[in-house]
Amino acid sequence: PLEARVHALLGLMTLEEKIGQMTQIRVGKLRGDCDAVPGPLREDCMKPVLVDAKVGSILSGGGDVPAPDPSPKAWAEMTNAIQKYALGTNRLKIPVLYGADGVHGHSNVVTATMFPHQIGLGATWNPELIERAGAATGQAMRATGVFWNFAPVSDIARDTRWGRYYETYSEDPHLAGTLAASAVRGMQADDGKTARLAATAKHFAGYSEPKGGHDRAPAFLPVRTLQDQVLPPFTAQFRAGVRTVMINSGSINGVPVHASRYMLTEQLRNRLGFTGVAITDWQDIRSLVTKHKAAADYPSAIAMAVNAGVDMAMEPSAAGEFTSGLRQVVRDGRVSERRVDEAVRRVLRLKFELGLFERPYVDPAVADERVNGVGLDLARKAATESMVLLRNEKSTLPLAKDGKIVVTGDTADDVRRQLGGWTVDWQGVPEQGPVPKAVTVLEGIRAAAPGATVTHAPDQADAVAQAKDAKAVVVVLGEKPGAEGPADTEEPALTAAQQRLVDAVRATGKPVTVVLLTGRPQVLGSVADADALLAGWLPGTEGGTAVADVLFGTANPSGKLPVSWPKRIGDQPMSYDQLPGTNGGESSKYDPAYAFGHGLSYTSFAVGAPSVPSTVRADAKVADAKVKVGFTVRNTGSRTGTAVVPVYVHQPVALLQVPDKRLVGWARVELAAGAQRAVEVEFSVDQLALNSGDVDGAGRREVPRTAYEVLVEDGRAPFTVR
Ligand code: IFM
Repeated sequence: PLEARVHALLGLMTLEEKIGQMTQIRVGKLRGDCDAVPGPLREDCMKPVLVDAKVGSILSGGGDVPAPDPSPKAWAEMTNAIQKYALGTNRLKIPVLYGADGVHGHSNVVTATMFPHQIGLGATWNPELIERAGAATGQAMRATGVFWNFAPVSDIARDTRWGRYYETYSEDPHLAGTLAASAVRGMQADDGKTARLAATAKHFAGYSEPKGGHDRAPAFLPVRTLQDQVLPPFTAQFRAGVRTVMINSGSINGVPVHASRYMLTEQLRNRLGFTGVAITDWQDIRSLVTKHKAAADYPSAIAMAVNAGVDMAMEPSAAGEFTSGLRQVVRDGRVSERRVDEAVRRVLRLKFELGLFERPYVDPAVADERVNGVGLDLARKAATESMVLLRNEKSTLPLAKDGKIVVTGDTADDVRRQLGGWTVDWQGVPEQGPVPKAVTVLEGIRAAAPGATVTHAPDQADAVAQAKDAKAVVVVLGEKPGAEGPADTEEPALTAAQQRLVDAVRATGKPVTVVLLTGRPQVLGSVADADALLAGWLPGTEGGTAVADVLFGTANPSGKLPVSWPKRIGDQPMSYDQLPGTNGGESSKYDPAYAFGHGLSYTSFAVGAPSVPSTVRADAKVADAKVKVGFTVRNTGSRTGTAVVPVYVHQPVALLQVPDKRLVGWARVELAAGAQRAVEVEFSVDQLALNSGDVDGAGRREVPRTAYEVLVEDGRAPFTVR
């Protein structure tokens, strides 16, 4: 029936109406001064967009919130008013679909709960938790009439210089894909209260490997890298039913992705079988003219992009220019009506699937209660599980809850830095205007240790003076919030001032714990020698509570690095799955400060030798034949804790160079002191597939029939794939 509805509706549509459905405009065009100055919705701003250009989708980019009242209720009223205007003026009553970037909660809403950014969620290795966080985000967005979330990010973290590093889950394709798929399941889950939500796998594809770590710089990705590392996280989300993809703004191998038929049709559709909507990133068809110089004028760029496989343009400012441009290239034959129909069919199918025709409106009366402060316990749990204890010399942690504790550092009491980019605004909470409620580390420590004397030392001299009679010093270091290009850096390292502060307090001889609230692993310099180091990422609203939970041992840290922690600035790009000889020399030299998967606990675990069936058949007809790896995990310490045990596969001999090891799964087990459990980790033979082609893409992706070993901690077990 859905296809019949799509077919019937499409059959009634004029070319203009179809093109309108392929267009997305920013909400700024509908209100205020009909452009950049925010204000109430205005009929004379809405008419050119919704009536004349017949636009079918609206977005709020970072910070594009209702004005003057940014509450969830005002959001709901705004999206309802747009919907009412659209439905009242369009002949076929096709509802508008509203999208925004809920990348760590409903991030444009100042009263919404912020979860840790994706890099922190990656450190939890907990798909079930991420699914719940996704569901909470989805519900908050839907309560305000936003049914399209431009999340999760499926790009893999490869270069800490890149400004969007913190928006990824991991450097590892399997970990990133598994977690992104969970987020999608959570976000797209239906609670029956409103229309459904569409998640977005972004940015398709290869976005996270720009040259030099500069956002949107060209990337060069041989087909093996593309198919074996970059695309698998997307495939995982396609299997989870993600409804849309957003396209990479950069170029790959010299071709801008927005104009790449190879990427948007041959790979995305023909090879990977994606059937949902492909939307551009911000103004990226225009960028084919202005930035890439791939087209001489806007209509030519439109033809290029639509023919390559774009279904919807996030224009986002000039509705009329896009719609008239597309009309022109359809009329002169550069784009076929068939291609337009295919795109519009996908958009209509999406709107039907979401239930927008039946439930186009939301109830403003319940918006505040469905958003404000909702999910705080979950945000605390997520933040706590995201903490990675990197170093804990002489059992500095957990701290006692008495005596004098000095708290210092630039991020000890700074909500903006703690929440990071994409919070209220694109570049993070603006300097002016309302600041979201969040528990800072200083507040978290004060609340957790009422019996201690907690002193905040805002500067170095004060910190040193205060430390003299202190029992412990906690230094909280972060980085300036930001997003995209403005967050790129040539020096992904702690600053000289940050290092001086830590050196100075360490010189007092007091035990010093450094908490790193940064969106990327920073090169540590002398801070590497601090007594204890805790990576807390960008932990969100409950970050301070979570840090305190771990510092005082209320929670036992279980986070594991989802990325490699580099030792030197020159280590970029870096990941554990290097090919032999990557850094010169006879063998691969993976030499991070802390390896992928590292993370200490207040207890200890012993992992037994793995067992695996000795022979596995890779039958082409049984693509998902499973391999089961068994081993035991025992808590050998004195308190309850959660072990995360990665399972890798190693291919001892390979002519075509393969990484030394590849993650295929993991166990995550909570164990009481002294308890032991037998666990089984299952992976699909398919996960062993590699592209056998050369850089020209001549090869096929297939499972090498050869000898392997599974690696679990220090144990290994051989098996053969036949
Ligand atoms: O979704 C984002 C994208 O990740 C970066 N450019 C802007 C889009 C919409 O805000």
